[in-house]
Amino acid sequence: MTPLLIRARLLSFKRAPQSIDDSASYFYEDDGGLLIEDGLISACGTFADIKARAPADCTEIDHRPHLVMPGLIDAHVHFPQMQVIASYAANLLEWLNTYTFPEECRFVESAHAARIATHFFDELLRNGTTTAAAYCSVHKASADAFFAESLKRGTCMIAGKVMMDRNAPQGLLDTPQMGYDETRAVIEQWHGKGRNHVAITPRFAITSTPEQMEAAATLAREYPNLHIQTHLSENLDEITYTCELYPDAKDYTDVYARYGLLREKALFGHAIHLSDREADAMSDAGAIAVHCPTSNLFLGSGLFPMRKFQNREKPVRMAVASDVGGGSSYSMLKTMDEAYKIQQLLGERLNPLESFHMMTLGNAEALSLQDRIGTLEPGTDADLVVLNAASTPAMALRMETVTTLAEELFLLQTLGDDRAVVETYVAGTASKPM
Ligand code: GUN
Ligand code: ZN
Repeated sequence: MTPLLIRARLLSFKRAPQSIDDSASYFYEDDGGLLIEDGLISACGTFADIKARAPADCTEIDHRPHLVMPGLIDAHVHFPQMQVIASYAANLLEWLNTYTFPEECRFVESAHAARIATHFFDELLRNGTTTAAAYCSVHKASADAFFAESLKRGTCMIAGKVMMDRNAPQGLLDTPQMGYDETRAVIEQWHGKGRNHVAITPRFAITSTPEQMEAAATLAREYPNLHIQTHLSENLDEITYTCELYPDAKDYTDVYARYGLLREKALFGHAIHLSDREADAMSDAGAIAVHCPTSNLFLGSGLFPMRKFQNREKPVRMAVASDVGGGSSYSMLKTMDEAYKIQQLLGERLNPLESFHMMTLGNAEALSLQDRIGTLEPGTDADLVVLNAASTPAMALRMETVTTLAEELFLLQTLGDDRAVVETYVAGTASKPM
């Protein structure tokens, strides 16, 4: 592949910003150069410096005045829910039973799974999302379709065949043994192939019997380095029902802890209504609470206590995510717009530097992938998003009065969506819809 030299305004975070003035938390270059060779960032700095050391035969692309950042990361999303998004329901359990479970039954068909996988990757990449932690359906065919598509696109993805053996339609149930065997088969077939990572994925405690949780526990023991993903404490009725199903557990979090599922690289979607004991347990384990703002508002699930988790004596690690189809947008910009509003309702502030850190390096760290993605550091994978804060007439007009980087980011987050994404690069190649 010919080396690629990108000229643009560059932004990449080094650590979590402490305030809106924390300019030491990021690298910003107004006339930046990014050299890409063999899918990797090989140099990053001022355009003049990088141009001077770039190979003579490199292709040059000028993205100025747009902003180039590491590709956006979505830490929780459901690929079989593309035709569930925007379904009218009163709450989580009604939404699952009325729309989501019947829809996911269709993924028993490989052809349907393959078709939706193509649309799913197109949609993520159109929104500048280059990595996601995704749920497939219970059917192994859905995971095969997902990972095959990811391999074709060259993306870094985390995903899992969902394990669920009760409280859902027959067409959506496996058994403890099937869940175990098929998860193992998906791991053997796909983990480490291209940039694919397989996650152990028991859907949530309501849809797994204790026997299936034992199977998940065995997988977790057998594969200590794999991601685990599930749902936790999203909705008050869900919590009550879970505690009825697992009467010996201290609380919802303890259900997972008892089966060895509370650990680093374990991603817990939602985690809104945790007690102090549960937050301590999450913190002690180094587990991740994944904030899904558009979903929490759409399903009326609750307000994620981000600051409480951050500022407690034992902080809880966090990530941010779309949770499509409970979530109402594929855009991580829209996701952070809603995250901002949730903090407003809680009387807290979320500054735009923090938001953009969370979508990139923050989520990369939460997924333990910071060595590869979420940054413009040389040696990492060249997954990039090119953002235009003047992408609509209303944004262009507002941009006329913007004077700082933080203001520009806040505008991108508040009014931006897929239209603000000029280009998305996966491992150094501009992605095209398929
Ligand atoms: N809890 C269990 N399954 C799901 C799901 O598909 N979406 C959401 N938002 N919550 C869940
Ligand atoms: Zn979810």
